[in-house]
Amino acid sequence: MDKLHITGGKPLCGELRISGAKNAALPILAGALLSEAPVTIGNVPHLHDITTTMELLGRMGVQLVVDEKLNIEVDSSSIQNFYAPYELVKTMRASILVLGPLLSRFGRAEVSLPGGCAIGTRPVNLHLQGLAAMGADINVRNGYIHAVAKRLKGCRLVLDQVTVTGTENLMMAAALAEGKTVIENAAREPEVIDLANFLNQLGAQVRGAGTGILEIEGVESLDRPGRHYNILPDRIETGTYLVAAAMTGGRVKLKNARPALLDAVLVKLRAAGAEIRVGENWIELDMHGRRPCSVSIRTAPYPAFPTDMQAQFIAMNAIAEGVGIITETVFENRFMHVQEMQRMGADIKLESNTAIVKGIPWLTAAPVMATDLRASACLVLAGLVAEGKTVIERIYHIDRGYECIEEKLSQLGAEIRRIPH
Ligand code: UD1
Repeated sequence: MDKLHITGGKPLCGELRISGAKNAALPILAGALLSEAPVTIGNVPHLHDITTTMELLGRMGVQLVVDEKLNIEVDSSSIQNFYAPYELVKTMRASILVLGPLLSRFGRAEVSLPGGCAIGTRPVNLHLQGLAAMGADINVRNGYIHAVAKRLKGCRLVLDQVTVTGTENLMMAAALAEGKTVIENAAREPEVIDLANFLNQLGAQVRGAGTGILEIEGVESLDRPGRHYNILPDRIETGTYLVAAAMTGGRVKLKNARPALLDAVLVKLRAAGAEIRVGENWIELDMHGRRPCSVSIRTAPYPAFPTDMQAQFIAMNAIAEGVGIITETVFENRFMHVQEMQRMGADIKLESNTAIVKGIPWLTAAPVMATDLRASACLVLAGLVAEGKTVIERIYHIDRGYECIEEKLSQLGAEIRRIPH
C-alpha cells in the first residue's frame, strides 16, 4: 500500500484548479442509469470512488467511454443485470445510489447492504422506507437488498432525518414514478441540486432542489438525446486547500471553485484570521504569515458547517492560538483522526460528540494511519505543519476523494512525496 511522506514547515503559496465534486459525480453517474439515451458527463474528478462506480456500472453491462478530456459517456441501453455486489459496495457506500434508478427504470435491483463504516453505523433504512412507500417490494436477505416494483407510485415522504444520499436515491426513484412525489425534510446540499439539474436536463421534472421540500412529477421516460452535463466544483476539496494555506501561514488562489457554496466554512476561516477574497468562480486566501486563531464549530446538514470539513478544522485548531470546541452532530463516531493527531503531540480531549482542542505552537512528525477519507485529509494537513517527516499509511482512503493531492500540494510548495509499495 502506498504511503505519503510529508516534511512540514513550508507555507503554501500559489494557484490551483479545483476538481469536480465527488459527491455530485457519484449520484449523477448513478442517475445516468435512468436515461434511455447516452449522456456525457464532464468535470468528473479522477478518483478511486469514480473508478469503483464505473466498474459497478460496467459490470451491469452499461457502456462507458472516457474521451481525451476525461468526459464520460454513459450508455445504459445495453444493461444486462441489476446487481451491485458486496465486493464493490463494501469499498464505497455510495454504491447504494444505484438502487433508486434501477428500481424505477427496470423494476428490479439487487444491491448489497453497505454494512459498517469507520465513521458510524450509517444505515440505509430511510432509503428503503421511502422506496417501500412508493410501492416497492423490498426484502433484505443474505446481506442483500432485493427490490422489485411494477411502476413506482409517487407519494408524500417525510424523512425522519436529513440524509444526502437518501434524498438523492428517492429523487431518482421518483423521476420515473407514476404521479407526483413530495420529499419533505430533504437534504439541501449543493450536490443534491446538481443531481436535480442533471435529471431535469434529461427531461425530469424536479422542483425545489436546495430547499427542504422536493416536488418531483414523474415522467414516462428520460430520453432527451445528446446531453452533456458538467459536475459542479468540489466544495470540500476547496475548503481543505484553504485550511492548508491558513495553517501554514500561506496564500492561495483556487480556480474553478464555487465560493458561494462555502459560506459556513469561510466565516470560520475569517474568524481564524484569514483574509479572503472571492469572485464568482475563484477564491483567494491570504494568512499574511500569521498563526491562525482557534475557532469553534458545530457540524450539521447544509447550509450549516459540513461534517466533511470537521477533521480539517481539528487539524487547524491543533496548531492555532487558543481553544476550539468542535461538536459533531451528523455522525456518531467521526473522531478517528483524534488519536492519530495526539500521536503528533496535539492536545485534544474528547467528550462524547465534542472535541476540545487546545492549540500548541507546532506538532511533531510521527508515523500515522489514515482511517477514513476526511481523517486522512486531517493527517496530511497536520503533516504540513509538523516538525520533521510525517509518514501516512493507508492513503487509499485519500485517493477516494482527493484528486492528485500530492501533486496539487507540491504545486503550492509543500514537501510531499508518494512512496509506492
Ligand atoms: C453523504 C456524503 C458524505 C457526507 C454526508 C453528510 C455522499 C456520497 N456522501 O453521505 O460525504 O459526510 O452525506 O453530509 O454524498 N441516516 C440514517 N438512515 C438512513 C440514512 C442516513 O439514519 O437511511 C443517518 C446517518 O447515519 C447519518 C445521517 O443520517 O447519521 C446523515 O447521513 P447521510 O446524509 O445519509 O450521509 P450519506 O448520504 O451516506
